Amino acid sequence: MAELIAALDVQTRKEAEDKIAAIGDAVGFYKIGMELFTAEGPDVVRAVKGLGKKVFLDLKFHDIPRTVERAVRSAGKLGVDLLTIHASGGRAMIRAAAGAAAEFGASAPRILAVTVLTSLDESDLRDIGVAMRTPADQVRAAAFLAVASGADGLVCSPREVGALSAALRSGTLFVTPGVRPAGAAVGDQKRVATPADAVRDGATHLVVGRPILAAPDPRAAARAVLAEMG
Ligand code: C5P
Repeated sequence: MAELIAALDVQTRKEAEDKIAAIGDAVGFYKIGMELFTAEGPDVVRAVKGLGKKVFLDLKFHDIPRTVERAVRSAGKLGVDLLTIHASGGRAMIRAAAGAAAEFGASAPRILAVTVLTSLDESDLRDIGVAMRTPADQVRAAAFLAVASGADGLVCSPREVGALSAALRSGTLFVTPGVRPAGAAVGDQKRVATPADAVRDGATHLVVGRPILAAPDPRAAARAVLAEMG
């Protein structure tokens, strides 16, 4: 059964708490990204955990292995449930992240790797030295590297999830943003899928922001997404 994660793309802890209150028990999992974390710091993670919710800390760590290892340990101490690293940090960095997470045993944060940012196209990849592979091939190579090095799963677009979930071992997590309920505004997302499509193609977690947070009735909007997820 796939899980719904609502993206807390707001700037203050107060706004985050108000959104969570408005959504109520419809959603038990929230994404805290760079915008909110940079504004409010770890206290906002503690606040969301204190409300009994799970936290996906999306800070996309990418640094030398020792630094990432220590940052993952800090996230584990906060009780974070899911967090992101960049697969392009390399094998040793991914292993260091997985090793630090494992220290937390049953409550270990699960590590998700970002393969290729969906904002990058072939020419952007050439600029940073990825000249031999198409974006799709680079996604696949980074995904295999990440999972082989100890990542629990991947952040991927709904376009990629079908091929990746077919190719990687079962139990791998696939977390997909870019999900839009049938008939919802697309906003700045270019490649979207419905909740039903994403789940059918193998997504284990869907990240949905504006269609829930900006809805006049966020709780009803979340319930509608859950209904579409089946
Ligand atoms: O409002 P919306 O549903 O588009 O929000 C999607 C969330 O997923 C945002 O927090 C966005 O930063 C994140 N995300 C994304 N596309 C990616 C990676 C992350 O939309 N490729």
